[in-house]
Amino acid sequence: MGQLGNKVALITGSGRGQGLVAAQRFASEGAKIVINDLDAESVEAAVAAVKNAGGEAVGAVGDVSKAADVQAVLQTAQEVCGGFDILYNNAGIGYSATQRFGIAMSDIVNCTEDDWRRILDINVGGIFLFCKYGIPKLIERGGGVIINTASIAALRGAQDAHAYTASKGAILALTRAIAVTYGPKGIRANTLCPGVIDTEMIHDTLISEKNISDLLARNTPLQRNGTPQDVADVALFLASDQSRFVTGEAFAVDGGIIQHIGLA
Ligand SMILES: NC(=O)c1ccc[n+]([C@@H]2O[C@H](COP(=O)([O-])OP(=O)(O)OC[C@H]3O[C@@H](n4cnc5c(N)ncnc54)[C@H](O)[C@@H]3O)[C@@H](O)[C@H]2O)c1
Repeated sequence: MGQLGNKVALITGSGRGQGLVAAQRFASEGAKIVINDLDAESVEAAVAAVKNAGGEAVGAVGDVSKAADVQAVLQTAQEVCGGFDILYNNAGIGYSATQRFGIAMSDIVNCTEDDWRRILDINVGGIFLFCKYGIPKLIERGGGVIINTASIAALRGAQDAHAYTASKGAILALTRAIAVTYGPKGIRANTLCPGVIDTEMIHDTLISEKNISDLLARNTPLQRNGTPQDVADVALFLASDQSRFVTGEAFAVDGGIIQHIGLA
């Protein structure tokens, strides 16, 4: 039956990257997955990838920063899967994803007002909307699990991507408050703080530049950069009953890079 047998997991931004790999991992443990992303093409491909591996998935296209889209995604989960048990708020932008989102990785002085609002709107606003409309559904069901993706940028200062950093810090604080408020209703909420993870978000800027990629790996105690699989296994732990007494916590999945005193 697997660790997530009979569970339904709604994963935002799961058309690619960490969300897609988590969808595949959760499905391999028996969960039915609601795949959400911005465009139909990536959603369809992700649903097919899960199904081709023998899993169950349904697609729900939608922008996490738009209330009507979020309600439609939740409606799909309700109508097709009878609700959901795991809400994994993974969608995010703002750390250099220049090709697709046209957002610069700026410090606060160079960050445009538009970029600031857009990044906060998607990264924190998306979690606000999914929790605002999703938590009552989890409570009706007798409880559930929320996993919110922040970043190591929420735990340590970096030189740039300040809007992103602000959004990830907000996610960390909000998740703690959600855990405190809704724990008595049977909801656990934890934050994932990925480190350097090779996905499209950072591939062209940090990973494919060999000198940068090597510098980061060399300064990581575990001596490599991360993969979406590294994150998905921790997400699985947080989604499953293995973590039944864990809530309000933040989990860095970073090979130990934030423990390092300085890059050399
Ligand atoms: N890759 C890293 O090194 C790293 C490090 C720390 C945190 N993170 C966080 O991990 C999460 C997953 O990122 P990833 O590494 O898989 O990057 P990614 O860019 O490959 O994936 C992000 C996904 O979110 C989707 N998305 C973006 N805006 C959306 C919106 N408004 N509505 C719905 N979907 C939307 C994208 O289409 C994409 O499929 C993000 O929250 C990111 O900030 C990534």
